[in-house]
Amino acid sequence: MQTVELKTPSMQGLITIGEGVLEERLPALLQGQKNFVITDSNVAKIYGENIKDWFGDTSVYVMPAGEQSKTFWTLGDILETMVKAGLHRNSRVFALGGGVVGDVAGLAAATYMRGVSCVQIPTTLLSQVDSSVGGKTAVDHAGVKNIVGAFYQPQEVLIDPAFLDTLPQREIKCGLGELVKYAALSGEMFDTLYQNKHRFGELAFLKTLILPSVRHKAKVVQADEKESGERKSLNVGHTSGHAIELSYGMSHGECVLWGMKAETKIAIRKGVCEREYGEKLLEIVSCALQTDPVEKVSFADVRDCAYKAKADKKNTDGGGINLSVACKKGAWTSINLPFEEYADCLRESL
Ligand SMILES: NC(=O)c1ccc[n+]([C@@H]2O[C@H](COP(=O)([O-])OP(=O)(O)OC[C@H]3O[C@@H](n4cnc5c(N)ncnc54)[C@H](O)[C@@H]3O)[C@@H](O)[C@H]2O)c1
Repeated sequence: MQTVELKTPSMQGLITIGEGVLEERLPALLQGQKNFVITDSNVAKIYGENIKDWFGDTSVYVMPAGEQSKTFWTLGDILETMVKAGLHRNSRVFALGGGVVGDVAGLAAATYMRGVSCVQIPTTLLSQVDSSVGGKTAVDHAGVKNIVGAFYQPQEVLIDPAFLDTLPQREIKCGLGELVKYAALSGEMFDTLYQNKHRFGELAFLKTLILPSVRHKAKVVQADEKESGERKSLNVGHTSGHAIELSYGMSHGECVLWGMKAETKIAIRKGVCEREYGEKLLEIVSCALQTDPVEKVSFADVRDCAYKAKADKKNTDGGGINLSVACKKGAWTSINLPFEEYADCLRESL
């Protein structure tokens, strides 16, 4: 087992990665108090028997799989079920699933009785390399993604890479956007991904990238839990990626890859990104985009897409478009572009 510690002003958390980590850690974590497991319908279907073995007679809440469940309604239903199950202040919530379960269950844990202990057990590539670490929890509301939420650190994160063996290829690809983001931000991962850029289709290779991704994210969150500085680096590719997601309806991971492509080209053009590094990064992004399944996309009405980037909640000052961009190995910076220039750059980059 490999472990990473994450200390923030609000919590001292432990992340453990390895096959069999649930069998090793759960008996101690389940002992002595009432607990509550939150999962989704797909995970429950595939791992129903294992859930009984891992959690015994603990109450299990199964939410319908998918982003459409990331709502106030689901949150309210979970909290009501927790009340009926008689959970108390020292109860523990276990979030077993992908980023959707992690975000909703994390918010339920953050708000029930003003906060009960939470253990994240991520089961998708995206959640294992990124979303289960760092304590961002949320639901979507009023048509805006992640608009209601809290920073709430899990007490532990248990990552078993074997969960990825049952994950559909399309969902594996969803995790590649975040993996490439860590390659862009961490000098250590950049060389590994550049040298192995044709291996995005190999699950065994992807599993080796979980630990360095988690290590990088933990380091960033430890330095800046609430995203006032260094944590903004984790938005690399995301401002354009979210706008592309809203405009063209591809998966989040795929859109982050397109967003990284556009923003890296913009950063090279603006002279803030070292050309040789930027071109290598573009090669990595392009190989990740070519991994099956390959989407056929036509980018119509890019100006409308650029407006969506302007409306992004990270554009706090309202003037122009703020982007976090990778600028050389292991380094990033922020740039601000006037809207018209951004729209032109986006049109040329996609
Ligand atoms: N909190 C954060 O820091 C953070 C960061 C990035 C993304 N997110 C959020 O994460 C969400 C996306 O997460 P996701 O990509 O994991 O999606 P997801 O949770 O919807 O999971 C994707 C699909 O895979 C299924 N699944 C999960 N584990 C499986 C397994 N082991 N085998 C087979 N099927 C499995 C799920 O049922 C679902 O259908 C978004 O809502 C996004 O906003 C949060």
